[in-house]
Amino acid sequence: MQEDQTYIQDIAQHEGEEVTLKGWLFRSTDKGKLQFLMLRDGTGFIQCVVFQKAVSPETFEAARRVTQESSLIVRGKVRKEPRAPGGYEVDASEVQIVQLAQDYPITPKEHGVDFLMDRRHLWLRSQSQWAVMRVRATVIRAIRDWLDSHGFLNLDTPILTPTSCEDTTTLFATDYFGEPAYLTQSGQLYNEAHIMAFGKVYCFGPTFRAEKSKTRRHLMEFWMVEPEMAYADLDDCMKVEEEFVSYIVQTTLRERAYELSLLGRDTTLLQNVTPPFPRISYDDAVKLLNEKGVPITWGEDFGAPHETTIAESFDKPVFVHHYPAQCKAFYMEVEPDRPELSKSVDLLAPEGYGEIIGGGERTASLELLERRIEEHKLKREAYEWYLDLRRYGSVPHAGFGLGLERTVAWICGLSHIRETIPFPRMLTRLYP
Ligand code: 4AD
Ligand code: MG
Repeated sequence: MQEDQTYIQDIAQHEGEEVTLKGWLFRSTDKGKLQFLMLRDGTGFIQCVVFQKAVSPETFEAARRVTQESSLIVRGKVRKEPRAPGGYEVDASEVQIVQLAQDYPITPKEHGVDFLMDRRHLWLRSQSQWAVMRVRATVIRAIRDWLDSHGFLNLDTPILTPTSCEDTTTLFATDYFGEPAYLTQSGQLYNEAHIMAFGKVYCFGPTFRAEKSKTRRHLMEFWMVEPEMAYADLDDCMKVEEEFVSYIVQTTLRERAYELSLLGRDTTLLQNVTPPFPRISYDDAVKLLNEKGVPITWGEDFGAPHETTIAESFDKPVFVHHYPAQCKAFYMEVEPDRPELSKSVDLLAPEGYGEIIGGGERTASLELLERRIEEHKLKREAYEWYLDLRRYGSVPHAGFGLGLERTVAWICGLSHIRETIPFPRMLTRLYP
């Protein structure tokens, strides 16, 4: 930033003033003596009007010559214009081209997703992608704000790990000086160590899963925020989740109304996202699915069609709790009266977005945990440190993981998760 630069987001404070805008040409319209330049500077979009009679021949020529995505500096006077999207326009007095872009590949016509993904480094400049990334940043901030102001200490967990936390089939292995190391699938196990030292914590970082299925909900690299609480049970977990998710959604609706409108998002259902959220047990969800003609046998895990059907029965995100232990990870606490049930809970988002949170109560008992590690055929030695947490002052505890990209996809109303992260890592894509 330079002292003489005004950002488009601050334009309202400069009505009637001469300003200098520095950015790129988003698009232009040639009306003979009038050139309309839609400028973007990262903070917003604004129309600059270049009138032949009001400017030097050099400026007018530059305005005519400037191409899509050329970098340029525009000086001019800010004028209120109720018909303009941001409410203001700039009457240009000077246009200076910084670099003339030749044949920008992404034109206003329709392009296929693969074409755009190959040019993701440029596609991020488009209005829709700009809107999504700004929503993403706000969701991240809302996540941190809520947790920071509710007594959760932010502690980072390692990215290179010696063991799995979730399904061993989705591990990304790498060579760690001759030993295998795996990219983290979840910071949860480390969070559990953290809470015994700090009470309530969260980690928030990149998470890696070698998901071999190509779906609109899966990325290989995604961001997960994982709160964990000592002396907490399944019910506490749900209470925190509903407050947390409601805060994230309402903050984003308030602060990113413009971006959501650019995306054409109908926010009616999102307005509804306030506590409490409905709750349904896995048992009842199975009944509901069979009634609704999406058959499932007790003990099977839900797929996307099941989640969608359950979620459609409610007008808010819905908790599904007490999944069969066989569907869930080794660390889940079980229900004492019905040990075939885990004290787990998933939060399903409406409108077909499916599971955005997975979590629950963790096994506090050393014996059960040892048995589980064996049943899951996990390498016991690698979990000795984790077993220590049950040997020295074990307490009931619970936590969850919220997938950032799935949450952003839901809030933005996107049909695919790939547009929610700047550079998505997918089954068939590692470029750019
Ligand atoms: O349900 P998951 O696997 O839960 C855990 O990893 C727990 N250890 C978290 C915890 O309790 N601390 O994943 C949590 C969430 C999912 O609900 C989903 O939103 C997201 O992470 N997620 C993915 N998002 C994008 N791409 C993928 N491949 C994802 N896998 C999980
Ligand atoms: Mg899950």
